[in-house]
Amino acid sequence: MLDLLEMHKSFLTAHLRPGDVAVDFTMGNGHDTEFLSKTVGDTGKVYAFDIQELAVESTRKRLSGSDCPRNWELILASHDRAPEFVREKIRAGIFNLGYLPGSGKKELTTMRETTLPAVASAVDMLGEDAVLIVAVYPGHPEGKAEGEELQKYFSSLSKYKYTAAEIKLVNSPTSPYFFAIETK
Ligand SMILES: C[S@@+](CC[C@H](N)C(=O)[O-])C[C@H]1O[C@@H](n2cnc3c(N)ncnc32)[C@H](O)[C@@H]1O
Repeated sequence: MLDLLEMHKSFLTAHLRPGDVAVDFTMGNGHDTEFLSKTVGDTGKVYAFDIQELAVESTRKRLSGSDCPRNWELILASHDRAPEFVREKIRAGIFNLGYLPGSGKKELTTMRETTLPAVASAVDMLGEDAVLIVAVYPGHPEGKAEGEELQKYFSSLSKYKYTAAEIKLVNSPTSPYFFAIETK
């Protein structure tokens, strides 16, 4: 059976090479940060953002206890502030929207007011042959609304500069799905 969350990794690996710069815009427990760190290697760089100290600590623990290269920078700040910290163009970015799994703090979910500007500036940060993944969880009301607004925004991107795809299970509307934006 198709696993959409595994499938988005193949979009990332199709673009990422050793030495690249990548951003995890929703660090959480650091699974995506770890994946990016290992993929870009010693000469690459990974920035990761979260608004929860708990997420930063959990990720620090994960990365320090694994064989990740020391190429990561964990930033306790909202992802709409990413342009203050990331000055270079990026090869890949990922937003895994929603709340921190296992924290019980479902109120600290990503919200449209910050998700939308953060995603728009992430699109601006993409360099050549780059990709942005945005995973959406429509099973809760804010997640559903985020997905709808993102769909409108991505539909407005120039087809001459980007390919913007939405990958979802049409027979299971509450299952997670993702957008993949690639620069031409
Ligand atoms: C679904 S989790 C991410 C899972 C993570 N990528 C992983 O691999 O474990 C979503 C995360 O987004 C964080 N978040 C919510 N609002 C945010 C914001 N404005 N800026 C950055 N992170 C935010 C939450 O604290 C939560 O940890």
